Amino acid sequence: MTTNTSPLGELPDGRPLQTEFNDGLDYPRLGTVSFRRGTLTDNQQALFDEHWPRLGTVLNDAPLDIDEWFGRSGHPTIVEIGSGTGTSTAAMAPLEADTNIIAVELYKPGLAKLLGSVVRSEIENVRMVRGDGIEVLARMIPDSSLDGVRIFFPDPWPKARHHKRRIIQSGPLRLIARKLKPGGVLHVATDHADYAEWIDELVNVEELLTYRGWPWPECPQLTDRQVITKFEGKGLNKDHVIKEYLWERTDAPNP
Ligand SMILES: C[S@@+](CC[C@H](N)C(=O)[O-])C[C@H]1O[C@@H](n2cnc3c(N)ncnc32)[C@H](O)[C@@H]1O
Repeated sequence: MTTNTSPLGELPDGRPLQTEFNDGLDYPRLGTVSFRRGTLTDNQQALFDEHWPRLGTVLNDAPLDIDEWFGRSGHPTIVEIGSGTGTSTAAMAPLEADTNIIAVELYKPGLAKLLGSVVRSEIENVRMVRGDGIEVLARMIPDSSLDGVRIFFPDPWPKARHHKRRIIQSGPLRLIARKLKPGGVLHVATDHADYAEWIDELVNVEELLTYRGWPWPECPQLTDRQVITKFEGKGLNKDHVIKEYLWERTDAPNP
């Protein structure tokens, strides 16, 4: 039987936090979308109870003290939005042990799976936030503090009337650019042809991001995702092409 009596890792009841950016840009409008729910197995729950307080937190309004959370200072930091079950997160992290990785995901069983990998493989450089990546960036991440942002296989929302829910839009691109340090990198991958066309139209929309295309051999950080994820595997089986995108945060434009 699955028991889940712990409030650990639970988002508060009621309407999710949604920042009004009022900057004239387009942000995902999720309306009443409810993301996949799911309970944890007994084993996952026990692991969650033991390790989440140290390795995870829930979206809140307090800016993260990254150095304190990771117990070290001066290391690069990358935020991954929508880490799913954390397959690439856990595969990449040991290869970039010098970098702090913050995985952001709404789906608790996905986070529990990543937590399991992190604990079992004694990965020291991954922390997790449960919440909407847009709100996590807006509320918890100081401006110009990140070396990278990763979004691998974001939900494609294939129906035209749902395109407004897509995370790659002018607003999130501005928000991400603001959170990156000059020289920081945004890395996006999709296996959805229509979403790729959508992103193609947006590659030059944000003046604080210089599009570097793919591959970008001089990219200052790891770009090899290491594994074929569940979603990517499905895409490959359907002969979908994986398209990857890299941008570099440029210095503020002249006023
Ligand atoms: C298609 S899955 C891809 C998961 C993973 N990146 C992979 O490659 O396997 C997209 C994930 O993004 C999460 N997600 C969607 N919107 C999100 C948001 N605004 N903030 C955080 N996670 C989000 C979903 O819960 C889902 O797990």
